[in-house]
Amino acid sequence: MKKTIILSLSILICGMQSYAKQKELYPYQDARRTIDERVEDLLSRMTLHEKVMQITQLRAGNNDQPQNQLEAMKGIDPLMGSFIYSNSDCKVRNQVQEAALKTRLGIPALFGYDVIHGFRSIYSVPLGVGCSWNTELYQKACAIAAKEARMSGVEWTFAPMIDVSRDPRWGRIMECYGEDTYANSRFCVAAVKGFQGDTISNPHNVAACLKHFIGYGASEAGRDYVYTEISDQTLWDTYIPPYEAGVKAGAKTVMSAFNCMSGIATSANPYTLKEILRNQWGFNGLVVSDWASVKQLVDQRVALDRKEASFLAITNGVDMNMGDNCFPENLEPLVQEGKLDTYTIDNAVRKVLKLKFELGLFENPMTKDIPESKRFKHKEDLELIRQLAEESFVLLKNENQLLPLQKGKKVAVVGPLADDQDDLLGQWKGHGLAEDVVSVFQGMKKEFGAEHLIHAKGCDIEKADTSGFAEAIEAVKKSDIAVVVLGENRKWAGESASRSDIQLPVVQVQLLKAVKRTGKPVVLILSNGRPLALTNVESQADAILEIWQPGIEGGNACAHVLSGAVCPSGKLDVTFPRSVGQVPIYYNRRWPARNGGGWNGRYQDIPSTPLYEFGYGLSYTQFAASDIKTSTTTVKRGQPFKVEISITNTGKCNGKETVHWYIAARSSHIARPMKELKFFEKKEIQKGETITYQWTVDPLRDLGFVDKVGHKFLHPGEYTISACGKSIQVNVVD
Ligand code: GLC
Repeated sequence: MKKTIILSLSILICGMQSYAKQKELYPYQDARRTIDERVEDLLSRMTLHEKVMQITQLRAGNNDQPQNQLEAMKGIDPLMGSFIYSNSDCKVRNQVQEAALKTRLGIPALFGYDVIHGFRSIYSVPLGVGCSWNTELYQKACAIAAKEARMSGVEWTFAPMIDVSRDPRWGRIMECYGEDTYANSRFCVAAVKGFQGDTISNPHNVAACLKHFIGYGASEAGRDYVYTEISDQTLWDTYIPPYEAGVKAGAKTVMSAFNCMSGIATSANPYTLKEILRNQWGFNGLVVSDWASVKQLVDQRVALDRKEASFLAITNGVDMNMGDNCFPENLEPLVQEGKLDTYTIDNAVRKVLKLKFELGLFENPMTKDIPESKRFKHKEDLELIRQLAEESFVLLKNENQLLPLQKGKKVAVVGPLADDQDDLLGQWKGHGLAEDVVSVFQGMKKEFGAEHLIHAKGCDIEKADTSGFAEAIEAVKKSDIAVVVLGENRKWAGESASRSDIQLPVVQVQLLKAVKRTGKPVVLILSNGRPLALTNVESQADAILEIWQPGIEGGNACAHVLSGAVCPSGKLDVTFPRSVGQVPIYYNRRWPARNGGGWNGRYQDIPSTPLYEFGYGLSYTQFAASDIKTSTTTVKRGQPFKVEISITNTGKCNGKETVHWYIAARSSHIARPMKELKFFEKKEIQKGETITYQWTVDPLRDLGFVDKVGHKFLHPGEYTISACGKSIQVNVVD
């Protein structure tokens, strides 16, 4: 009895204490309340200065982006709402967070970083990932990146980058998923789901960021940071759909862009940032500027000074100012001068607070300091990253079935990237380390045995020094086969990395030709961050394998494909031109007025066709396609119908095949592309097996088009549906 009384008394006292404690809590500190209640309560308690600091982001930790020089930061202001956090562990981040929690209202800071294709366990650059056509696998890779990032103190990634690009001179083409709108949409959704998971309060998930909104990929002449001439029609039919898909997938944030789009700067563009994003799509997340893109409104001559730039940005839809300190300098004076109302600032602050509550930062502001051996490079993660690399490789040529290589043969492995590690990481490598990378030669040693290989670098990536050729040629002469690994320095792609010439450096071509002259069979392996003009090397190799910048498992993945342990299944997500003079060149072009052999007009000096088309890629096996079947040839609005095609693996090995489904309108009052990718699916097919691929066509979504104000329409008439070289006609009736 006595015990019972003591127990019940202690429970009562605890309850009273916890009630008393709760009684001290402000509503915003009470996790039992809704996020909206907590946001409004906190907002009501904030001073103007606290609000302005909340919508500001600068950098904490090291600066790993030399193109983004930090405005001289006088120490870390604990009131600042967010930081780009460039350290690989959470120590500094937690110190910054402790200071934030000691401020008057104790609002936790938000830490973001460019986790573009991995945090430490780096996988293929996105342009390579797009060639895998495996969105399920990619989603898992993004989940790995999110886990590593969040465990290291980063809860927000500035990815996916979904700027459709048709210009290989532009260095940032490596960051997107190629030239097609629908492909970028699908990979965008996979990335958002992979990064954000079911909830971003999960300690292994991060908030995603759709960037760069919008039209950045149309940078004139492939230069970076420049003007983009985009009609409203092209804006809606080419650049907008991936963002709409990402918003529908629940992306928490959007990043405005650097480019001026047809006269209006995208970081102060009310049509895109407010009318489309907010009013039409109902996006209620955070819009962050790109690095200094507010201040850059002055450079673009659309703002007189930083104050006007700040006013234009926040009143036209930018919520958070990244990197240039414009908001802290100017917003309070603008309010005090009666030029800016606090309602606008409150709206921006709401978005930041909402994200922080959703991330669970008020309840769990600190990151547990876990040793990196437990945060990075888990065995099962490396296996997944290797598989993604394997599936992103594109076999461009394979004369006389030279590949796969027979084991036991003597192989010379030469070229500047043969045993290169750092360049296989690609740009935006996050915390990827060269020492983590398995080079092609290292991977081949594991797969084929060092005793069968001879390595000789031959030359550097671009230095015009052929003194290493002799050793390389000697190695080739002693071997049965030459594997030549060529390509780009990883810093030749990425931001501020445009190139006027997209051919391989002269010295590399010279090395390849010298190897070819030995008369030995030649396998060319390419590691690059953009489509290259390969006309001058295509004839110098019997087999060509594009491995892009495959990340830390690149060498293992390459060796598995070379040995036939893995059958290559990649198909190009971007067109490879014969020459940079053909740029822009892409598959979904419009019909020309005079049909230059199916390609827009003719050049006098070269064929008008590209060297390798969008969707091209060879396999070690062969696939045969049946005719397409359809559940109807008469299509009624609002009535989905099914099409299907059967694919048989007629070759000698198992393989994976992607079926790309295209549509084409017979005619349209708005000129449409010659064909449009509308669905794709990848499946494994055992040798001798037949598998059916089915697609449920939604007439408006898949056969329809969009006009220059975003209205989707569906014309009656004839449409062609094609896949694997087969096609059928269907008729849309009113
Ligand atoms: C850069 C890039 C953007 C990146 C940001 C933060 O300049 O344009 O993609 O997320 O700054 O590093």
